[in-house]
Amino acid sequence: MKVAILYQSLRGGTEKLAEALGTNFQSKGSAVGVYPITNYDAQFVLNSDLIVVGTWTDGLFGLGSRPGQLSKLNTLRDIAHKDVALFVTYEISPEKSLTGLNEWANGRSANIVASAGFKVRGPFKKDIQDDIDLFVENSLQLITLD
Ligand SMILES: Cc1cc2nc3c(=O)[nH]c(=O)nc-3n(C[C@H](O)[C@H](O)[C@H](O)COP(=O)(O)O)c2cc1C
Repeated sequence: MKVAILYQSLRGGTEKLAEALGTNFQSKGSAVGVYPITNYDAQFVLNSDLIVVGTWTDGLFGLGSRPGQLSKLNTLRDIAHKDVALFVTYEISPEKSLTGLNEWANGRSANIVASAGFKVRGPFKKDIQDDIDLFVENSLQLITLD
């Protein structure tokens, strides 16, 4: 299984999570490439079985939250009919940004196999290792190999 992980990070939290996801996919036998979404290996992404796309939650910590820096994500080339797994990082709530990211991927006709929010900062610190395991397992289970 070849997995490309593409992230957009403002302060490094989403990058760190992308690396942790990469390590987990690797430990389950996948060949993994982790890249900033604005600077990836196009050949690797083209040949991958799964594209993981992640960004951070932007907003006013409540109303109007959305996926951060969508304009950067829009530089990604055609992902129509590709299997994608989506994630957002957040501090308070991932709900709206995750919905927004799903809409973004649907708008590009991608096949969404998993989506999850990861609380990497903020109050009530949470151990996210279980969330990481679950996300990776779900993603690998649902990929359609052709
Ligand atoms: C301008 C700004 C707005 C944010 N708005 C929200 C928000 O509405 N809800 C939330 O849960 N987290 C919000 N966050 C927290 C970030 O989504 C969170 O810290 C994220 O992990 C940052 O990722 P990064 O370190 O890759 O930039 C906001 C952060 C910033 C800088």
